[in-house]
Amino acid sequence: MNGNKIRYREFTMEQGQAAKESNRSSKSSPVSASERRRSAGRKGSKVAQKDKRRKLVDATMRRYGHSTYALIETLHTVQEAYGYLDDDNLKYVAHSLRVPLSKVYGVATFYHFFTLKPQGDHTAVVCTGTACYIKGVPAIMKAFKKNFDVEPGETTADGKLSLLTARCIGSCGLAPAMVYDGEIAGMQEPEDIVSKVRAMIRNGN
Ligand code: FES
Repeated sequence: MNGNKIRYREFTMEQGQAAKESNRSSKSSPVSASERRRSAGRKGSKVAQKDKRRKLVDATMRRYGHSTYALIETLHTVQEAYGYLDDDNLKYVAHSLRVPLSKVYGVATFYHFFTLKPQGDHTAVVCTGTACYIKGVPAIMKAFKKNFDVEPGETTADGKLSLLTARCIGSCGLAPAMVYDGEIAGMQEPEDIVSKVRAMIRNGN
């Protein structure tokens, strides 16, 4: 229990330190205003990408009023959006739901459907929620099997691609929806998916 408290305190101290350093560097930076604006734009696009996934996580916690009962659902959302449960997100969830970090790790390691390790180099998440399912999930799964020899929950033999599923990623109006390396795309036909995944693997993005 003490260990949990210490780890939790380390997390909040790290956050405080990071915030202080970020403040210090923004005050003392000698760069011009235009360079700052350009740099903010570049950073902004990365942050926006990050935020998209974090927003899904936040939305799940909000749906449950940030109660501790949200833990499993929130971990599902993290895994669906990021492909696995990374340390940063586990700490973030523990902090946001006010649950001891040890409990979050306990749940994450108890259930076989959670994984704490990054999987393939790339992840493709097929939304299997009702709206997406009726718009063609079986055909999408067949295309993955035929073209990449991979089934849901598996990683290709060369370690390049992990295929995951999500129950609903909040884009039902765009069904069938996919998440490619964290980026949501709607109205995906099996042929588009195959070319996109091939390009993602080829280009490394
Ligand atoms: S069911 Fe697929 S996005 Fe909602």
